[in-house]
Amino acid sequence: MHRTKIALIGGGQIGSVLALMATQKELGNIVIVDRPESENNVKGKALDIMTLRPHDGIDVELIGTSNYDDIDDADVVIVTAGIPRKPNMSRDDLLGINIEIIKGVAEEVKVHAPNAFVVVATNPVDAMSYTFQKVSGFPKSRVVGLSGALDTGRFQAFIAMETGLSANDVSCMVMGGHGPTMIPLVRTATVAGIPISELLTQERIDSIMKRTREAGTEIVHLLGNGSAYFSSAASIMEMVEAYLGDKKRVISSSMLCEGEYGVNGYYIGVPCVIGTNGVERIIEADLTDDEKAMFQTNFEAVKATTDNTGL
Ligand code: LAC
Repeated sequence: MHRTKIALIGGGQIGSVLALMATQKELGNIVIVDRPESENNVKGKALDIMTLRPHDGIDVELIGTSNYDDIDDADVVIVTAGIPRKPNMSRDDLLGINIEIIKGVAEEVKVHAPNAFVVVATNPVDAMSYTFQKVSGFPKSRVVGLSGALDTGRFQAFIAMETGLSANDVSCMVMGGHGPTMIPLVRTATVAGIPISELLTQERIDSIMKRTREAGTEIVHLLGNGSAYFSSAASIMEMVEAYLGDKKRVISSSMLCEGEYGVNGYYIGVPCVIGTNGVERIIEADLTDDEKAMFQTNFEAVKATTDNTGL
């Protein structure tokens, strides 16, 4: 029997939580890769989770390594390698450091896991997904960035918290590049199909929109050392499970647009259908003039950062 193989490139906070979540969901065997100086650390994490398995009756296997040979033929690769931002840094400030890391990772993944579905989480994520795809030469359907899954989860959570209703009943989406001008689509947000404008005042809606856009920064400041990792890992899991289960989930994600939403040749957050073929298509929803203007402002920021990759 072929057991799915999942390679986690980066064994930091998100990688560690992912290793645990993927184990507890028995998604497959897991390889945690980190730099040679962190090899013992990821070996320790892998062994810690290996010895947790009897408590949950789980049989998947984990290893920690710094040797890319260990990811040979992985089905799924999740890239969290790189530096998270510190308080008072923007995601874009990470470009210079993280681009070299992502280029190196992409070269290795290209050789060792040429058929993998790749989720990139490293910031600035739209530019890093673009970099990974360019360097690996993988089809765009197999290189997708974590953005809207995380941002939409926050939007859902804040609507649930403000209305006092279950997050399960909230349906909404955040579009655009993963930065301060991302677009929580208030117009189409509902609780059990009821528009949020019928449940909340405009003032409360405005504050939810602002908090959604700034949630990553709010968490960076609270943590003091690192950025969000539990919700990031859960969001990546949603994307990976959509792929492995051929679910055709519609998940806003950073994807290479080739004409969609007027964007050509850049990764930006758009509604993606994720199934067994990776990102199977982008859904082009009709936006109002206001939403289009917000998307254009957001795209200018994504474009500027992506152009700085020099690729
Ligand atoms: C966030 C970071 C990870 O939004 O970009 O939390």
